[in-house]
Amino acid sequence: MPGIVIVGAQWGDEGKGKLVDLLAERSDVVVRFQGGNNAGHTIVHGDTKYAFHLVPSGILYPGTTCIIGNGVVVDPEVLLGELAQLATQGVDSSGLRISPNAHVIMPYHKLLDVAGETRLGKNQIGTTKRGIGPCYADKALRLGIRIQDLLDASILKKKIAAAMEPKARSLRPWERDEILDLQTMTEAYLAFGHKLEPHIADTAALVWDALDAGGHVLFEGAQAALLDIDHGTYPFVTSSNPVSGSAAVGSGAGPKDLDEIWGVVKAYCTRVGAGPFPTELDGPLADGLREKGGERGTTTGRDRRIGWLDLVALKYAARLCTLDQLCITKLDVLSGQKTIKVATRYRTADGAELERFPFHQTVLHHATPEYDELPGWDEDITDVRRMEDLPQAAQDYLAYVEEKSGVPIGMVGVGPAQDQVIWTDAGRASEAAKSVDLS
Ligand code: GDP
Ligand code: IMO
Ligand code: MG
Repeated sequence: MPGIVIVGAQWGDEGKGKLVDLLAERSDVVVRFQGGNNAGHTIVHGDTKYAFHLVPSGILYPGTTCIIGNGVVVDPEVLLGELAQLATQGVDSSGLRISPNAHVIMPYHKLLDVAGETRLGKNQIGTTKRGIGPCYADKALRLGIRIQDLLDASILKKKIAAAMEPKARSLRPWERDEILDLQTMTEAYLAFGHKLEPHIADTAALVWDALDAGGHVLFEGAQAALLDIDHGTYPFVTSSNPVSGSAAVGSGAGPKDLDEIWGVVKAYCTRVGAGPFPTELDGPLADGLREKGGERGTTTGRDRRIGWLDLVALKYAARLCTLDQLCITKLDVLSGQKTIKVATRYRTADGAELERFPFHQTVLHHATPEYDELPGWDEDITDVRRMEDLPQAAQDYLAYVEEKSGVPIGMVGVGPAQDQVIWTDAGRASEAAKSVDLS
């Protein structure tokens, strides 16, 4: 103990990677538990910027064991590319460990992801086209290829053939394409397996051993609660469970190993891809925040949609994930706004007032938010490191969010760099703070 979980509490890109990087230095283990290279976690570490997709955001610390857990879907080519890129940046990732039970994204998954989106036309989800959905679908169908299969030539070929067989019709356009040739694919994926073999280990046992020895284990989430396949804005979601409960399933830990749960929340909201986004803004206000916040996707380079903070959605995420602490990021981006709006409830198409996030898709699609309006501040806050040094209006904004969400704020981000954070009293008293030097 303790196990500390970091999850996104909005629609992704809240700054989870930065928080994990901050807490990882003195942690024993960092484990990614779901998602794949749809994730993009940008970290500014010293003068260097890193973009992680599959590798856990703790990799910069040689003393921390980084794990890709069983719940993750792995594109081996992307992973090897990421490791090669890290090597050019002088990062030793030999300590990375991968679960033999993690599922492998195959070439046909990527083709089917793109084809599925094309077929949906104007109803498309706006996926990252990385093959995430089709790979998780094969996992559920029990037709998946797992990391362990990459080490066995005869099994791999049979499993690929079995996985492709029911897809023959959808894959017909690529029938003669070398990329889907059974022999070529088998050889390519065996070669990936050979390269990854030194990293493959019983990762659940590594997590148990660290927890049982009293070590610090960080569970690194990707995506976010509102993109959860069960609880998010289905079908405009990802194909895994980014909520905190999934940290156990996707790593092999038990639910009682999750001692403290942090939700990362932008001081406003963004979303990439399609789907309902009640507080969405457009025009110069959205453009200004996008520019100032650098709101362009780490993975796909798409412009992120921008909106005001949504307390209806945040309270929903806080309950789903049983959040103990909030990490509010990008407060600095709000500097210069005359007033700041926060959605407190939704009004439905027939005039009803909702304080709870609606389960019904049509209700959500037609919901219009009602706002509280708070005074803004002009000061540049990127050098502030103590709560009491923030402009009063910024302190009031944080106090308001804390009170309305019902979750203490443990930390506030005032810039992309690792040291651009403010720890609050609640944060300092948390389990997470024990893995950081706050002196
Ligand atoms: P993640 O997917 O949740 O890890 O988030 P991303 O890395 O996709 O997006 C967050 C972006 O915001 C990254 O470029 C971070 O470097 C940056 N960032 C994180 N925290 C802060 C902050 O407090 N202020 C500012 N200005 N940028 C931040
Ligand atoms: P991080 O970890 C933001 C979105 C996609 C799309 C939907 C489904 O960086 O927060 P998928 O490729 O997963 O099938 O796409 O989910 N999405 C993300 N949005 N941040 C992410 O990850 C995302 N990963 C997936 O844009 O709307
Ligand atoms: Mg991201």
